[in-house]
Amino acid sequence: MKVKYYAKAKDWILRSWIDICKKVHKNKRSGVTFIDLYAGDGVCECDLPSDDVEKWPGSALRAAVAGCSGVAEISVIVNEKNRANFSLLEDRLSEYGDCVKAMYNADARYAIDEILESLDPAGHNFFFLDPFGHSDIDMELVRKVSSFGGKREKYKDDFFFRRPEMLLNFPSKGMARCVGAQEYDSVNRFFGHEDWLPFVIDSKEKYGEAWSYYLTQQVLAELAEFYPQHEKRSCQIPFEIINQQNKTNMYWLLMFTTHPLARSIYSNFIKYAERFLENDVLRKWVEIREIARAKQEGIKTLDEWC
Ligand SMILES: C[S@@+](CC[C@H](N)C(=O)[O-])C[C@H]1O[C@@H](n2cnc3c(N)ncnc32)[C@H](O)[C@@H]1O
Repeated sequence: MKVKYYAKAKDWILRSWIDICKKVHKNKRSGVTFIDLYAGDGVCECDLPSDDVEKWPGSALRAAVAGCSGVAEISVIVNEKNRANFSLLEDRLSEYGDCVKAMYNADARYAIDEILESLDPAGHNFFFLDPFGHSDIDMELVRKVSSFGGKREKYKDDFFFRRPEMLLNFPSKGMARCVGAQEYDSVNRFFGHEDWLPFVIDSKEKYGEAWSYYLTQQVLAELAEFYPQHEKRSCQIPFEIINQQNKTNMYWLLMFTTHPLARSIYSNFIKYAERFLENDVLRKWVEIREIARAKQEGIKTLDEWC
């Protein structure tokens, strides 16, 4: 499917995290189940200013490749609502048959109950929720995932309540646009109530940050009962994805995890993600665009001088 260049940062976070999971479970009897609720068609394609197309594997394929590497036990469950995308995904995943445990072609909000029933709440379950916009998802679904499990466990000297790991693409830009235009219906449907409005409006009036920031804060606050916001090593790690063209917010990637090891790895790991976004997405895009412009205008590029 067609994606924008900044989707590379999302891909980097996802595949790097899958890689870390692979290392954590390497040669162990334990494993990880990756549940991709908005799986897409298996390929990401981005049109570059140079008229080239850059392609990379979609989220479900990233996980399936890791699952078939034989390094660790990784099973994959996918769900995709769109029939055409689902068929393409089926084809693309067919060669990874062994690690693909189940495929659903449904609205994630309906598929979730059956998927949760099939999972071990004591296992390492990693959910990826990657909708296009806020109309495709709601907090009821996010809460169902977040509240799964919850048994008290011990890791080294730390006690924690086991919850799934969850990477949520929170589509803040579209939602912020609705709030700015005072079109609240779709936002009310997403939250399942209207109580978000006073917090978001008051905060914006007082502190002046973008709508998208306060909407994200609202989501984080609503999930704090499952993923507490401790001062140190919070169970919630937000990461902002910005557009390379005008440096404005596109969405927030929100990582949730209660496991002490995952929390400590993730908070350091995110610094590498920032560097990737800065160097390999934002700067790289400017470079590609400038080379394309130079070619159009018949100017020699730096490479051609050297
Ligand atoms: C951003 S794309 C996913 C990209 C994919 N995760 C990747 O990284 O390759 C969102 C996908 O969710 C699907 N979708 C939209 N609404 C959905 C819903 N309610 N339930 C499940 N899938 C949905 C769309 O058809 C689309 O393929």
